Amino acid sequence: MSYTILKKVQAAPNEYDIWVKAPQIASHAKAGQFVIVMADENSERIPLTIADTDKKEAIRVIYQVVGTSTEKLAQLNVGDALSNCAGPLGQPSEIPEGKQTLVIGGGVGIAAILTIIKTLKEKGNHVTTILGSRDREHLILENEIREIADETLIYTDDGSAGKKGLVTDGMNALFEAGKRFDAAWAVGPTIMMKFCSLVAKEHDLLIWTSLNPIMIDGTGMCGGCRVKVKDTIKYACVDGPEFDGRYVDWDILMNRQKQYSKEETESEHVCKLGGIHPSQSKEGGLQ
Ligand SMILES: Cc1cc2nc3c(=O)[nH]c(=O)nc-3n(C[C@H](O)[C@H](O)[C@H](O)COP(=O)(O)OP(=O)(O)OC[C@H]3O[C@@H](n4cnc5c(N)ncnc54)[C@H](O)[C@@H]3O)c2cc1C
Ligand code: FES
Repeated sequence: MSYTILKKVQAAPNEYDIWVKAPQIASHAKAGQFVIVMADENSERIPLTIADTDKKEAIRVIYQVVGTSTEKLAQLNVGDALSNCAGPLGQPSEIPEGKQTLVIGGGVGIAAILTIIKTLKEKGNHVTTILGSRDREHLILENEIREIADETLIYTDDGSAGKKGLVTDGMNALFEAGKRFDAAWAVGPTIMMKFCSLVAKEHDLLIWTSLNPIMIDGTGMCGGCRVKVKDTIKYACVDGPEFDGRYVDWDILMNRQKQYSKEETESEHVCKLGGIHPSQSKEGGLQ
C-alpha cells in the first residue's frame, strides 16, 4: 500500500494539514482514533490523530513540527508517500445522542476535536465549542468548526483572536452564565487538559481527555503508554486515548512524557527509540 500525500496545506506556523491516501483506514476510522505513521523506513513511529476522513479513500492529519520525526514528515510533499501508516488505532469516542455537549480544543489539539464535533452533530447533540491558542496565527480550523458547532468561543493568550485568556476562562464563563452540559471533551496540551478536568470536576461534569503519552507500538505490547486512571493502570493506545480527565493521574502522565527528553534533544535525525522496549532503555524504566 502506498500512503501517498494527496494534499498539503500549512495550517499555522510549523503546523501542516495533510490528506493521505489510506482507503482501509478511511473506511473504518471513527472519531477519537489515531494512526501511527513513519515518514520513511528509518523513522520513528509517531502517533497522530485522524482529524477527518472522506470515508473511502483518504484520511486527514494535522501535525505540529516539534522534533526529528515530525520534521521528516514536514519534508514530504504532495506525491510523496509515507513509509507506513497503521490504523485506525485506539477506542472511538463515546458519542451520546441528543445531549448538551461542550468540546474544547487547544493548539494543535483542535485537530482532534473536528471529527468529535462532526459526529456529535450527526447524533443530534447540541455542541458548544471553545477553541484556544497562543495567538490568531496558531488558531487552526476556526471556520470549519464554526460552520458545524452550534456555538464557538475563541480564547487566545494575547487576545489577537476572540477574548484574551485561557480555555478554562471560557468554561468558567459558560458555567457562570448558567449553562449546563451532559458531557465534555478537552484535547490539547497536557496541562490544559489537566486544568479543564479540574473545572469539570467542580461541576461534576464528565470530561473526555485524549491522552498523549509516548507511544511506540500502539498495540498494547510495549507498555510505553501506561497511564493511571482511577488508580488503575491503562494503556492509552488500546484502552484510550480518551479517558475521563477527572480521574487521570496528571502528574504521572507529565513525568512519563519527559522520560525521553534527553534523547529527543540529542536525536538529530537519528531514530531514537529504534524499537527498544522502554524498560530496556537506560532512563525509560516503566513506572
Ligand atoms: C494518541 C496521540 C495522538 C496524537 N496526535 C497528534 C496530532 O494529531 N498532531 C500532532 O501534532 N501531534 C500529535 N501527537 C503528538 C505527536 O505524536 C508527537 O508530537 C510526535 O511523536 C513528536 O515526535 P518528534 O520526533 O517530531 O519529536 P520529539 O523531539 O521526538 O518529541 C517531542 C515531544 O513529542 C512527544 N513524543 C515524542 N515521541 C512520541 C511518541 N512516540 N508518542 C507520543 N508522543 C511522542 C513527547 O512529548 C516529546 O517530548 C499525538 C500523540 C498521541 C499519543
Ligand atoms: S504504545 Fe501502548 S503499549 Fe505500546
